[in-house]
Amino acid sequence: MTETRYEQVQRELRDKPTKWLVTGVAGFIGSHLLEKLLDLGQTVVGLDNFATGFQHNLDDVRRCVGKDAWKRFRFIEGDIRVLEDCRQALEGVERVLHQAALGSVPRSLEDPVTTNQANIDGFLNMLVAARDAGVASFTYAASSSTYGDSEELPKVEDRIGKPLSPYAVTKYVNELYADVFARCYGFNTIGLRYFNVFGPRQNPDGAYAAVIPKWIGAMLKGEPVYINGDGETSRDFTYIDNAVQANLLAAVADGAALNRVYNVACGEQTSLNDLFDGLVNAVEQLKGWAVPRPEYRDFRAGDVRHSLADVNRISKLLGYSCGSRVTEGLPATAAWFIQD
Ligand SMILES: NC(=O)c1ccc[n+]([C@@H]2O[C@H](COP(=O)([O-])OP(=O)(O)OC[C@H]3O[C@@H](n4cnc5c(N)ncnc54)[C@H](O)[C@@H]3O)[C@@H](O)[C@H]2O)c1
Repeated sequence: MTETRYEQVQRELRDKPTKWLVTGVAGFIGSHLLEKLLDLGQTVVGLDNFATGFQHNLDDVRRCVGKDAWKRFRFIEGDIRVLEDCRQALEGVERVLHQAALGSVPRSLEDPVTTNQANIDGFLNMLVAARDAGVASFTYAASSSTYGDSEELPKVEDRIGKPLSPYAVTKYVNELYADVFARCYGFNTIGLRYFNVFGPRQNPDGAYAAVIPKWIGAMLKGEPVYINGDGETSRDFTYIDNAVQANLLAAVADGAALNRVYNVACGEQTSLNDLFDGLVNAVEQLKGWAVPRPEYRDFRAGDVRHSLADVNRISKLLGYSCGSRVTEGLPATAAWFIQD
């Protein structure tokens, strides 16, 4: 069988390890990037201020990769809002995977100033520090929220609507800054517009939890599951392995693939009602108990009705191919929460 682009990139990285910086390393996506990089023999610096990340995510990575691999990791507790912290974290670093930000649309609606500080001031600090450090590549977490009020489906990278939340504004501003840094300073970046990424280690608790960990957490505690709206709202739910793949492909990209944004998803639409059924199946099979029907309540402010990615650009220019789909990711995620 011929090697996929992702297999090739992993082989090349193993053969020629380098030093990476992962910001937001104690968070959900950041911790998976750390795990993958350490598995591939890379040296990693991680930066996080634990705003929404956890030491237990780092402990879990340590358990997964083993003591020896862990020696190649250095953690810096620091804040991307502080330029000096960014500069310190970047010392000797070749490739950057910038994930640190305050996620959640509702959080940004309640406190737009704090979201702006982390997501825009912090992003700009990271760009300036990475440019000055002369890194070889800079890949950053963008967001499908940038499509805003555009109703067009599937979502194609060059056609966006107006932002529907302060969070969406911050993620769009990231893209604008990245573009300007290429034009003004010749500093190359790649933005990855994640579509509802889910998987192990995603925080199930608190008012701003994402739907999948929140629902699994509620099901396991025997608490009611609430669906906002009629349940026909849909998303392109993306298992974490695909986000990790996209980051590695982006980090080694060159030429015409640079200075672009890419959708990261599977190009499949799942309604909340179908998502609920999928999770019920997974939890019932694993636990052997019956999960009660969901309770429906009002639509949530700032939420888009449907989201579905066109993944042609990332497939063609980066060689990406969706690995685990929702149907595989949901049982794997439920199993992780149950064994945890
Ligand atoms: N999970 C998704 O579905 C999704 C979708 C679109 C975009 N994103 C983006 O992906 C990135 C990672 O998201 P996640 O789901 O892993 O969220 P997360 O909250 O689990 O991780 C974010 C991490 O960034 C850290 N952080 C926040 N502010 C910081 C600061 N000022 N300085 C240093 N560290 C800081 C947090 O402590 C946390 O560990 C974010 O940029 C998010 O906006 C995620």
